[in-house]
Amino acid sequence: PTNHLQMEGGSSLLRADCRAKGGSPGFKVAILGAAGGIGQPLSMLMKMNPLVSVLHLYDVVNTPGVTSDISHMDTGAVVRGFVGQTQLEDALTGMDLVIIPAGVPRKPGMTRDDLFNINAGIVKTLSEGIAKCCPKAIVNVISNPVNSTVPIAAEVFKKAGTYDPRRLLGVTMLDVVRANTFVAEVLGLDPREVDVPVVGGHAGVTILPLLSQIKPACSFTQEETKYLTTRIQNGGTEVVEAKAGAGSATLSMAYAAVKFADACLRGLRGDAGVIECAFVSSQVTELPFFASRVRLGRNGVEEIYPLGPLNEYERAGLEAAKKELGGSIDKGVSFVRK
Ligand code: NAD
Ligand code: LMR
Repeated sequence: PTNHLQMEGGSSLLRADCRAKGGSPGFKVAILGAAGGIGQPLSMLMKMNPLVSVLHLYDVVNTPGVTSDISHMDTGAVVRGFVGQTQLEDALTGMDLVIIPAGVPRKPGMTRDDLFNINAGIVKTLSEGIAKCCPKAIVNVISNPVNSTVPIAAEVFKKAGTYDPRRLLGVTMLDVVRANTFVAEVLGLDPREVDVPVVGGHAGVTILPLLSQIKPACSFTQEETKYLTTRIQNGGTEVVEAKAGAGSATLSMAYAAVKFADACLRGLRGDAGVIECAFVSSQVTELPFFASRVRLGRNGVEEIYPLGPLNEYERAGLEAAKKELGGSIDKGVSFVRK
């Protein structure tokens, strides 16, 4: 492991090691895919999070440079870098929270499902490492297609006998972040005052904003509802097209991932009333996984809230979402079971 607190010849700065090993408050967090477009700003923002005491940065390339860079920030977390499969186990051992943004992003013209062939294997391998080295960690899956990669991780954990559905969460926070922003634009509000629940999954029509339930309570014309729903569902594609082949959302995703990870850590700490949307094992619909509002606590997902009253437009959206989502979930499950 690249430990920048390690001196040449192997001796170490003992006081710093003591700080990392015990005593200091905070959680141990690993980022898998830390040198990527999301990984780098995510690593930087997690280094700034006061709830983090140890930050492990893992990737198959370039982690030494990213780790060296980030380790110079004068914030509390001790940073260590790990590169390549042989260092995966060291990266994961002892972690409380593992965030996974590893995998290829979309180019214009692709769907998230087009990433399945490459990313499914990556998430499977990383999940096997988690099952072995930190089976009790909370896992935040960012790698697309989230609608399939979360079921893949679940199947790997089941096979290993470590599955705890409360601890596995697909990150759909960017949909909420976008929904808050776009709705605030239409209403002329500060986005920080807006809270839009977004349920279903994380791809196209499976992204279902519940505009009838926004806070502050507000009503929309049919035209506004259609415009906002479509823009929220296509937010990812909007960025993919603007980046024109150079990848997908990275900066807004890193922001959203940190917002979500921070909520998970506050839950782990025992804070009350931590509620966010996430794609989790669920009985809210007949599907085995579904995104909805969940309460986060010491064990991860402590409570899953029902969808609440939907209007006609949302009920139709829900049917379309479930139709596509079911197939994506099955695809992930069979990838591991086959
Ligand atoms: P990127 O290509 O810039 O970075 C991916 C990183 O993953 C690279 O550094 C790469 O070396 C690393 N990687 C590849 N295989 C790995 C392995 N086996 N173990 C560890 N690391 C590995 O891509 P990006 O823009 O950071 O996007 C990453 C993923 O996140 C994509 O699948 C993308 O679609 C997804 N994404 C999800 C959301 C969401 O809302 N959930 C939002 C944006 C992007
Ligand atoms: C997003 O919503 O921005 C991500 O899922 C990346 C993508 O491919 O759109």
